[in-house]
Amino acid sequence: MISRRRLLQTALLVGMLPVSMVHAAVRPRFYNPFKVPPLEVGRREGKHLYFDLQIQSGLSEIIPGLQTVTLGINQPFLGVTLRANRDDHVHFKVVNQLSKETTLHWHGMKLPAKEDGGPHQSIAPLGQWESDYKIDQPAATLWYHSHQLHQTGAQVYHGLAGMFIIDDEESQNLNLPSTYGVDDFPVIIQDRDFNADGSLQYLTTMRDRMMGKRGDTLLVNGVINPLLKVETALIRFRLLNGSNARTYQLEFNDQRSFSVIGSDGGLLEQAIEVRSIRLAPAERVEILVDLSDGTMPVLRQRPHDLRFPQREMSMMNRMMGEEQEFDIFQIDARKVVNGPVTLPSQLVSHSMYRDIPIQAERSFSLQMMMNPARFMTQDQFSINGKAMDMNRIDEVVKAGSVEVWKIKNLTMMPHPFHIHNVQFKIIKRRGRIKSHELGFKDTVLVHPNETVHLMIHFPEYRDAVNPYMYHCHILEHEDQGMMGQFVVT
Ligand code: C2O
Ligand code: CU
Ligand code: CU
Repeated sequence: MISRRRLLQTALLVGMLPVSMVHAAVRPRFYNPFKVPPLEVGRREGKHLYFDLQIQSGLSEIIPGLQTVTLGINQPFLGVTLRANRDDHVHFKVVNQLSKETTLHWHGMKLPAKEDGGPHQSIAPLGQWESDYKIDQPAATLWYHSHQLHQTGAQVYHGLAGMFIIDDEESQNLNLPSTYGVDDFPVIIQDRDFNADGSLQYLTTMRDRMMGKRGDTLLVNGVINPLLKVETALIRFRLLNGSNARTYQLEFNDQRSFSVIGSDGGLLEQAIEVRSIRLAPAERVEILVDLSDGTMPVLRQRPHDLRFPQREMSMMNRMMGEEQEFDIFQIDARKVVNGPVTLPSQLVSHSMYRDIPIQAERSFSLQMMMNPARFMTQDQFSINGKAMDMNRIDEVVKAGSVEVWKIKNLTMMPHPFHIHNVQFKIIKRRGRIKSHELGFKDTVLVHPNETVHLMIHFPEYRDAVNPYMYHCHILEHEDQGMMGQFVVT
């Protein structure tokens, strides 16, 4: 840990301060049609579902008149949306058409470690990988993305990420909007920078390596400035922060309230009415928006509350782009015909495995070294003082057990901490636990000097050899070592 003064000196030294401290409000005109990623439901044989996925590169016209080299799954840019039911046995055949190694990880899924698609399951160029597992968890909005060692940031940035929706009977009985592309929409929010020729610009500054890559152009499902036309009054949005590093504070421009119904791991117990929501990288939230007033609200990122009143800390906020304001997408509800809507209040009940004693407590300290002399060496980013090593198992967990993990942030910036193969509950953090953080989670934002306590029930999958990962979901931090490995036995 170094002092704030030292940090600032360091920041100045390595030239990572933004050129302009002036806050520029970006007000796009909404002219592109909202893109709904194609749905891929697989080939069904009873309870078995077969998916063929092609990891490919392609050209995409993201900026009018320019071609951008992108990556995608079954399409040129980003992944198709996968959809399956609880209790389905899914079989993926993943073909890597790229000339480099890659992987596909099922983020948020409970599954055997060798099916997880982490760095140990990388697929050779032109190679193929099969992943099979039974879906054994409630309806939820999950996602899938590349997890190639040291390359996750670059590969996700270029497009290797998509949504994965799980359905179940319990949620279907609630009569929530669930017709894909009609009243139920994926909203993958990502920020990107483009070069003048249209190519994606990745990691050009020291600041991006330190703080994670942030871009000044916002995309929703791969499209800039989209306008979504809807015709029913109650719309469900599945928001996924698919950005490499940026945390959003989302709200509507008319300050309307909306209803939060789901978090990373599925539906909440009760719907919660809010006016704004914070979404860190990899987090998902499902919301219901009442559009019976037939207007045209804009979802936007508002400048974050200045959590750190001290001048040096608000400079940290600026370095993370938190003072920026973006419009994300606009809804056109002028054609909405049906009348007032009723929002459900009771949703599902969560089993909290309170009958199982807590078998272990573990602590994880997130660390960043800000020493310019050692800059870009391997141990720049670490957990418990160790940078990721594929050949080292950091933790051994007992299958079926309940543990408390304490995640301590010893750095000057927030980190979204993610654990594979589990959906945990946040049981303690600074301040009140509220909004989507009351639900099941697989990723949690940990603030500077904060320790967040998680209660985790580990599934019964056992494998003493193949590990799962836990890591910071700022992908540049993960790629530079803020990741560890655990096995479940
Ligand atoms: Cu979203 Cu380890 O990944
Ligand atoms: Cu994951
Ligand atoms: Cu981080």
